[in-house]
Amino acid sequence: MASDEKGPTGPDLSKGILASDLRDGAMLAGHIGEDAVLLARQNGRLFALSAHCTHYHGPLADGLLVGATARCPWHHAHFSLETGEAIAAPALSPLTCWQVEERAGNIFVKSKKAQPPTKTTGSTNEHIVIVGGGAAGFAAAEMLRRRGFAGRVTMLSNDDAAPVDRPNLSKDYLAGSAPEDWVPLRGNDWYAENKIDLKLKTDVVSLDAKSKELTLESGSKIKFDKLLLATGAEPVRLDIPGADQPHVHTLRSLGDCRAIIDQAKTAKRAVVIGASFIGLETAAALRARDIEVHVVAPEKRPLERVFGPQLGDFIRALHEEHGVKFHLENSITAIDGKGAVLKNGGTIDADVVVIGVGVRPRVALAEKAGLAIDKGVSVNEYMETSANGIYAAGDIARWPDAISGERIRVEHWVVAERQGQVAALNMLGIPTPFGSAPFFWSQHYDVPINYVGHAEKWDTIDIEGDVVKRDCVVRHKRGGRVLAVASIYRDKESLEAGVAMEHKAAKA
Ligand SMILES: Cc1cc2nc3c(=O)[nH]c(=O)nc-3n(C[C@H](O)[C@H](O)[C@H](O)COP(=O)(O)OP(=O)(O)OC[C@H]3O[C@@H](n4cnc5c(N)ncnc54)[C@H](O)[C@@H]3O)c2cc1C
Ligand code: FES
Repeated sequence: MASDEKGPTGPDLSKGILASDLRDGAMLAGHIGEDAVLLARQNGRLFALSAHCTHYHGPLADGLLVGATARCPWHHAHFSLETGEAIAAPALSPLTCWQVEERAGNIFVKSKKAQPPTKTTGSTNEHIVIVGGGAAGFAAAEMLRRRGFAGRVTMLSNDDAAPVDRPNLSKDYLAGSAPEDWVPLRGNDWYAENKIDLKLKTDVVSLDAKSKELTLESGSKIKFDKLLLATGAEPVRLDIPGADQPHVHTLRSLGDCRAIIDQAKTAKRAVVIGASFIGLETAAALRARDIEVHVVAPEKRPLERVFGPQLGDFIRALHEEHGVKFHLENSITAIDGKGAVLKNGGTIDADVVVIGVGVRPRVALAEKAGLAIDKGVSVNEYMETSANGIYAAGDIARWPDAISGERIRVEHWVVAERQGQVAALNMLGIPTPFGSAPFFWSQHYDVPINYVGHAEKWDTIDIEGDVVKRDCVVRHKRGGRVLAVASIYRDKESLEAGVAMEHKAAKA
């Protein structure tokens, strides 16, 4: 998603605006010098904060005010109006706050406020270990330090790269429109500055939940007081002849992405196996590199199982408009040299093949340790597993979702980060149930699709607006109840739907 590089617009808030121009519950964007500033009045109080989200620069004035928070329209981050803190991911850094004054019928924004000091919490002797350097693991470590945890934090990851913005690996970075320095979630210095002992290329092979000890592949042992398992998911590989060749890839890590980019530099043709989110986003990214792309998948319509037929047809047409060739109700039976052999006959030559046929949660550590497993690692609403002091978050966690009333496991970036944050707060002794509406976004060319809620099955799809015109809210319902809402360029409705789901669940 591109950031807004234009200079700040709207009124000069240092000169003041009429107080009557800002009703209660409203926001407006203005500026103080070169700083874009959001002015908000909520429950009779005035707030002034940076106008753009610290995630991808979303315009907060187009979002929502909910209680004491401002919500970003693009990927639903929550910011405290009072302090600017990024309370709920995907934004992690705070907004700057300004002093505001209402005087003689006018509102003036004054000087910048200082960030409130961090209070230290926990014992310096305590050791929290995080297994996993992805969305959930990183967000947990960041939250522990943000809340002043005084003890040791160790993050173990078998990846060779420090935590990255994984969604970018199938979008702008893969397409060549984002430089690599956008990809790390934080620079290397950040870990040392925040006393997070990040150990990369470190595979954890076993967990003893009773003696609170991990064993690494090297044989060395690490003791912990509290543990977060955030091992994520791994791509399903295809057991077909030729799938082990160097031009055949899956896409999960920065290393996987670099390998695809390397070959994409000279490739003329690509085959993407699987019309999943990752498969189709990869197709779009490779088209941006002017590579001929063939998508081969067994289903009749791409993403119909998640979105329903109308959005499925739209997504197919959108990719076809950009030159993608679909081979649906078909599969690849072998990759013979550079030729991908179609089940229904024929071969497609490809210099690069990307397999995007889904992922499996990495539950082996938890399972071998005897933790409760239920198609994922079972956790309660505080993200704690069946073992005291051991938490799990992200793609591996199956939790009691208060919104659907079901135990669910999802593979969404924002959910993983927020669960990591919630696990961190609970590890610090701040009881915090996970109550966020599941949210994900996907980007296909210039079309972002937002999805809030969770619907595995539905009996009705209500469409407001026009899918083909890229202006719609698509509600998935069962028994008259809205389970999930997909939307295109209807950010406010998407935010409102998530808030309504959360409020309903909180009241139940
Ligand atoms: C290319 C791509 C694009 C995506 N785009 C989107 C998107 O647009 N929107 C969206 O909502 N979601 C998206 N997702 C999904 C999202 O990235 C995941 O849901 C999220 O990363 C899950 O976070 P996690 O922390 O559970 O796992 P991960 O981020 O996968 O992190 C797991 C970590 O654990 C480490 N690990 C695993 N096992 C061990 C072990 N035994 N020892 C040590 N370390 C271990 C791994 O190396 C990794 O560092 C995308 C995923 C991919 C791959
Ligand atoms: S731009 Fe604000 S949450 Fe992504």
